[in-house]
Amino acid sequence: MILVILVSFLQSCVGSFDYYMLSEIWPPGYCHNNPCRRHGPKFSKFIIHGLWPQNTTPCETSKLEEFPRDTLGKLEKDWPSITHKPNGLFWQNEWDKHGSCSMLPQIDYFKLTLDLYGRADIKEILRKEGIVSQIGDVKRYTKYQIENAIKSHPNIDAKPQLICYQGNLAEVRLCFDKSPGHKYKNCSTSYTCPLDNIKLPYLYPKLPVMEPEEAELLRAIPPL
Ligand SMILES: *[C@@H]1O[C@H](CO)[C@@H](O)[C@H](O)[C@H]1NC(C)=O
Repeated sequence: MILVILVSFLQSCVGSFDYYMLSEIWPPGYCHNNPCRRHGPKFSKFIIHGLWPQNTTPCETSKLEEFPRDTLGKLEKDWPSITHKPNGLFWQNEWDKHGSCSMLPQIDYFKLTLDLYGRADIKEILRKEGIVSQIGDVKRYTKYQIENAIKSHPNIDAKPQLICYQGNLAEVRLCFDKSPGHKYKNCSTSYTCPLDNIKLPYLYPKLPVMEPEEAELLRAIPPL
């Protein structure tokens, strides 16, 4: 009896979560509020931020093992770090904070993330609805337009969560259930994007993009 209670207690405590959220970064918008590398590679596509199990119980993490060559190639292409963090440290942090809560072996977690990301090309989906990134930021879009372009895509058919910084689209988040097929599900709404006048910037902002030394200096300053 006690054993049964103990087992069910452990099962409900270790690595349980409700659903997955895949966060994709629009780099020129994301860098409005994050220490991006000034001279690093510039991406003009959505790149992976992470795959985050939602409403998790505490998880136990582990050191990243070496990735197979083909997986590493895909990670470098689609899940690169654009801040001062090297890729390896970025992936380790994502695994520590989120991936280890998925209860998947490391390689399965990273492959699942790449697969879910590969299901839909957000930039292309937006472009088809006339939502494009241009030099000069002439065009502005409503939150409804962006959400609806993604939601009404037949492959998705579920509400994304949008993240903006100062009216610039920074992230698009898609939600998936835990079933083996990982069907899309509605994400909860976020309030970080204004209802209208949302920009899809083309150029990276001048600040707070920074070099590793600057980032290091900034981290050394104690918070207020
Ligand atoms: C998302 O929510 C809408 C209405 O709020 C509902 O009609 C739709 O079926 C939901 N989609 C999914 C995938 O659950």
